Amino acid sequence: MPDLIDVLSQDTALQIRPDHPAPPPAPFLEALLAGLSRPDKAIPCRFLYDAAGSKLFDAICELPEYYPTRTEMALLRAHAPQMARRIGANARFIELGAGSGGKAEFLLDALMAQGLPPAGYVCLDISPVPLAATAEAIEQRYPHLAVTAVCGNYLGDVDLPPSTARDVCFFPGSTIGNFERHEARAFLAQWRQRLSHFDERGAMMLIGVDLKKDVPTLERAYDDAQGVTAQFSLNVLTRANRELGADFNIDQFRHRARFVHDPGHIEISLVSQSDQTVTVDGQRFHFAAGEALHIENSHKYSLSEFAALAADAGFSVDTVWTDPRRWFSLNLLRAER
Ligand code: TRP
Repeated sequence: MPDLIDVLSQDTALQIRPDHPAPPPAPFLEALLAGLSRPDKAIPCRFLYDAAGSKLFDAICELPEYYPTRTEMALLRAHAPQMARRIGANARFIELGAGSGGKAEFLLDALMAQGLPPAGYVCLDISPVPLAATAEAIEQRYPHLAVTAVCGNYLGDVDLPPSTARDVCFFPGSTIGNFERHEARAFLAQWRQRLSHFDERGAMMLIGVDLKKDVPTLERAYDDAQGVTAQFSLNVLTRANRELGADFNIDQFRHRARFVHDPGHIEISLVSQSDQTVTVDGQRFHFAAGEALHIENSHKYSLSEFAALAADAGFSVDTVWTDPRRWFSLNLLRAER
């Protein structure tokens, strides 16, 4: 990771550990060509988040219709002291994904305030820039906390620093909803294996999970009145045009978010408004009118569905916090022996 040097301020003592030399994910051109060649066309959702896309996603989180971020924040604000007591002292706090906008701080503040300081803080993210920013912010806020930044993919092999502390893994934002259900199960099972648990209470995971609810509320959260979400998903085509010289006619695609009952997910696609051909890197791809280009799924669970999935992966549910409308949940899972 030589480019890490550029993103770290010079006086930082922050340690960044490069992770396993896993094969890097396919670059945009390769992934786009592969995705457009499939019978069911798709673009991997990781390409949504260029600079413009990240700004638009921040705007989504402020929308009246997009309840997940705000509801999860409110749960943390209201229940962090109780969460901290369930987590207990001397846990190594591992945050999966940087830049959760202060969510970890709610828990770390509560742990410190109740005299339950963690044994350390580890942030794991695939992108070095937000990773370094998050780790530096935590280091400044908690000068006595041992902070480690690990640049790697939490879906792949992860090289956590050795530790004898009990691990507590924080995975907010309902990112687990963006995995297919079998992937979510495999992800949990893998982390269940990885987390060390020398303490008799066992390792834990605190996971944000968006819940099933009435369909209009769900669909509006992914297709807002101001059209910000539509701009966000269409931005991936603008990005392909700019970075790869593709010729997507942005006006000829429409954002669509619809709830699919089995097993229960929002499916986000861009739908071709006409019979058209798109050229990328000299290759031509035909779209029929009404044909969908799949962008992302966002799975929604009932509390019992999520508990069953966690149980399949070797976790029991310790505590669930949810809002009065039961729209969102924070699930504290405990590794079973
Ligand atoms: N993780 C977010 C979610 O599933 C991502 C997201 C929100 C998203 N709105 C979107 C992805 C619109 C694509 C298009 O809630």
